[in-house]
Amino acid sequence: MDFENLAKTWEKFGEQDPLWSVLSEDQKQGNQWDVENFYHTGSYYINNYLKELEIKGIFKANGKSLDFGCGVGRLTFPLANHFEESHGVDISLPMLKLATKQNESFGHENCFFHHNLKNDLSLFEDGSFDFIISLIVLQHMEPRYFVNYLAEFMRLLKSDGVLVFQLPAAVENRASYLSYEAGMNPEMEVFGMDQDDVEALLKGHGGNVIESVEDHACGDETSYRYVVKHS
Ligand SMILES: C[S@@+](CC[C@H](N)C(=O)[O-])C[C@H]1O[C@@H](n2cnc3c(N)ncnc32)[C@H](O)[C@@H]1O
Repeated sequence: MDFENLAKTWEKFGEQDPLWSVLSEDQKQGNQWDVENFYHTGSYYINNYLKELEIKGIFKANGKSLDFGCGVGRLTFPLANHFEESHGVDISLPMLKLATKQNESFGHENCFFHHNLKNDLSLFEDGSFDFIISLIVLQHMEPRYFVNYLAEFMRLLKSDGVLVFQLPAAVENRASYLSYEAGMNPEMEVFGMDQDDVEALLKGHGGNVIESVEDHACGDETSYRYVVKHS
C-alpha cells in the first residue's frame, strides 16, 4: 500500500484495537490485552536489552533516545527510565493520544511524543540522538519507504550513538510481501529485506552493522535485530 494508505491503516488500527495491533497475539484480539501486562512486555524488553548492550560493551544508556514507530509508548516509557529524554514518533495520531493518556498515570516528564506523517524525519536535526530503536515497525511498510527511514536514522544518530532496529529477511532475495492474515480490515502488510542488502544500504549511509541477531519478532518469518554504529 502507498504511504497515504499506510497512515490511514495505522490510524484505524489505533482507533479499533491499538494494543493488539502492536502485539498481535490471537487471544488478545478485540481489545483483550490487560494494559498492565501489555506495558510490562516493553519494560522487560528494554531493561534487559539495555543491560545486555552494556555488558557487551556496546552502549551505556545516556542522553536522548528515539523510539521510531512508538505506537502507544510500550518501549518509549521504559526508555524514559534510562535516558534524559525519551522521544517517540509515530504516524498514527490515535496511538499517540493513547500514549499521552497513559502517561497521565506513568508521569514521565521526560517523554515526548511526535506525530509525523512524512517519509522522512526532518522534524529532527542531524545528530540529535544517542540511541535509536525501532522494533516491529519497518516490517509493516514497503521497502521503498523503510529505506528512507534507515537513512534518516543514520543522519539523526550521534557519532558515538547506537541504532537498533528489527526487520525480517526477504524471501527469495527480494523485498518481499508476506500476506498477514489475508482479509483483515484494516490490512497489515509485512515486508522484509535480504540481510546483505540491509548491510550494504547502511554502509552507503556511513553505518556499520556490528551485530545482527535472529529474533522471533515476525512470527514464523526469519527476522533480524540489527545493531548499527557509525563506521
Ligand atoms: C506493531 S506497532 C509497534 C509499536 C512499537 N514499536 C512497539 O514495539 O510497541 C507499529 C507502529 O508503527 C507505526 N508506524 C507505521 N508506519 C509508520 C511510519 N511510517 N512512521 C511512523 N510510525 C509508523 C504504527 O502507527 C504503529 O504504532
